[in-house]
Amino acid sequence: MDLSVKEARDPGSVGNEVRIQGWVRTRRDSKHFSFVEINDGSCQSNLQVIADNSLPNYENDVKSLGAGASVSIRGEIKESGGKQATELLASELIVHGLADPQTYPLQKKRHSFEKLREWAHLRPRTNTFGGVMRVRNCISRSIHNFFQESGFLYINTPIITASDCEGAGAMFRVTSMNPEQLPRTDGKVDYAQDFFGKSTYLTVSGQLEAEIFACALGKVYTFGPTFRAENSNTSRHLAEFWMIEPEMAFYELTDNMDLAERFLKRVFSDVLQDCEEDMAFFNQWVDKTLLETLKEIIAAEFVRLPYTEAVEILIKSGESFEYPVEWGTDLQSEHERYLTEQHFNSPVILYDYPRSIKPFYMYCNEDGKTVRAMDVLVPKVGEIIGGSQREHRLDVLKGRMGEQGLDPAEYWWYTQLREYGTVPHAGFGLGLERLVQFVTGMGNIRDVIPCPRTPGNADF
Ligand code: 4AD
Ligand code: MG
Repeated sequence: MDLSVKEARDPGSVGNEVRIQGWVRTRRDSKHFSFVEINDGSCQSNLQVIADNSLPNYENDVKSLGAGASVSIRGEIKESGGKQATELLASELIVHGLADPQTYPLQKKRHSFEKLREWAHLRPRTNTFGGVMRVRNCISRSIHNFFQESGFLYINTPIITASDCEGAGAMFRVTSMNPEQLPRTDGKVDYAQDFFGKSTYLTVSGQLEAEIFACALGKVYTFGPTFRAENSNTSRHLAEFWMIEPEMAFYELTDNMDLAERFLKRVFSDVLQDCEEDMAFFNQWVDKTLLETLKEIIAAEFVRLPYTEAVEILIKSGESFEYPVEWGTDLQSEHERYLTEQHFNSPVILYDYPRSIKPFYMYCNEDGKTVRAMDVLVPKVGEIIGGSQREHRLDVLKGRMGEQGLDPAEYWWYTQLREYGTVPHAGFGLGLERLVQFVTGMGNIRDVIPCPRTPGNADF
């Protein structure tokens, strides 16, 4: 019977004849046998294999095994006297591929995360990245479970789009035209001759299309790749990342906040329950306060604070920020972190932001100065969720588009949703990688995605 390392480590497997397949982490020889540690990615721990020198290929194969070699091993699971509950007594060991210890990069010494980024094709074989990928998987499962159990429909919104949702202008162009021979009309590139007959881009958010479906089906969510051509070389920005965007008809801002809080707490609880071993690893090696912090966050209520009050707190703080704060400016990561880490020591939901710094689609408050936007901020990462109640009043929406220099005609279908059976609705976007960063304590967002895409970097 084939068992994963995780299953084979379970005391219940003792006495079974099994086959294990994976990669060697280490080999140690004693007089009559070798200890070979195997990992197959199913869990943080390795399985200890005892390879006796009576194996026919002991001298030729077993003695050549080193870190990185791939093997299939048959044998019996025994109770172990050591730290681990079980071990495998090998009766057959097949080598699929050796790894030259002179050149295999992942030798026993610890490598920096920066160095490991250069070996993104091998880093999932390390304890840290194996753990990150298992936690990331658990988070994705938990997200789907949460929404499915709450009656949301999973919607796939397009990746290629002609509309700029966030209005930030940081979009990647999609074209099938030959850059060496662009068709021109009056000197200008003629995008009417491009594949779609107009300019198209990779999406920065599926929100506008998600609104179509919320305004028909009630509660929906997207979970897909998102692209931003911002030239931000920070530990929290990627050019390609995954976003989860729930969108709900008949929701106002408070409902949106309630949902976001319940949602994050559910994900944290699932990870603590399902990824105990990996989380203990991150708690030991990456951030010693991780488990305690997550448990505290699950137990307490998030702080909810209007932007205006946040600005007052920041001004009164006496901190010397790199970017000065005043009402009307966007908060920088240093301000967000001051609020969550120093002032409140808790996740904070900031809401009612100045309308001048937020996109056209957010609901305008009566004060004429703010919109019903919300950002969820968490310690160390800062903004993890951005969302809002949407402007569902046709006239106000068109006014806002005008303010921001957008042509309502180009968003004709979006405005029609307000013309026919408009409803209050709201939603938010959660950056999957920021969530994985927060849950694992990993300092750099490039280390929580399989193949990071950042300015100047699209390897692998
Ligand atoms: O705040 P953002 O820009 O919001 C939107 O795109 C809305 N349309 C969402 C909605 O209301 N449906 O992005 C949402 C989240 C951020 O809070 C952050 O977690 C993540 O997406 N994010 C990034 N993650 C990694 N790299 C980047 N460059 C990111 N930009 C945003
Ligand atoms: Mg945002």
